[in-house]
Amino acid sequence: MEENTQDFYEDSRYVLEAVEKELLLRVELMRRYFVLKGDRDPVEHCKSRIKSSQSMVNKLKTKGLPVNIESALTQVYDAVGIRIVCLFIDDVYQMVDMIKRQEDIQIVREKDYIAQPKQNGYRSYHIIISIPIHMPDCTKSMFAEIQLRTIAMDSWAALEHELKYKHTIQNMDMLVSELKRCSDEMASTDLTMQTIRQIINNSK
Ligand code: GTP
Ligand code: MG
Repeated sequence: MEENTQDFYEDSRYVLEAVEKELLLRVELMRRYFVLKGDRDPVEHCKSRIKSSQSMVNKLKTKGLPVNIESALTQVYDAVGIRIVCLFIDDVYQMVDMIKRQEDIQIVREKDYIAQPKQNGYRSYHIIISIPIHMPDCTKSMFAEIQLRTIAMDSWAALEHELKYKHTIQNMDMLVSELKRCSDEMASTDLTMQTIRQIINNSK
């Protein structure tokens, strides 16, 4: 049953927006830092989103958590999410390093699905962080999810996401295994391209 979840976050939405803006600003500053140093910008693009009210309500229910703002902000970690898409795998790890060097950011959880891809072939680096947000009258510690991946990983995930929601499609098994094959090929190509880039850079 769909209920009215229009303004599930109510007054807390502005805190979530503050988290989103804060993270986008930090990524922007990291990119500028690289460019100012004379390095290449490691980020191809960066996207962000606040989890929709409906998705949040569904997630709380699925996890058997109380359906209220308190648990949405403290027991689910991805009310705010940003996705950093890079050209090459070493750019991803460079950004992970940069994030870890931010003094006031705490790493709550980390999953390296690049070193250890999921069984379906999903690859990305996931970090759950806790970040202080300075509000006019207090400082709140807020969770957020950061996903980092290459362009190849990003297009793969987009395709797999589309397939996940097609319940009526024929040849599902074949498509799933073809996707897995794509993932393996892309992982290999990502590595080869990175090696080529290193050789080019070393010869400068
Ligand atoms: P929740 O999904 O937050 O309950 O926790 P989890 O432990 O499953 O988190 P995980 O880090 O595995 O995944 C978090 C997010 O990564 C998901 O919400 C998706 O956006 C993305 N993701 C994870 N696995 C896949 C996958 O197999 N395919 C695609 N397309 N995206 C994935
Ligand atoms: Mg999940």
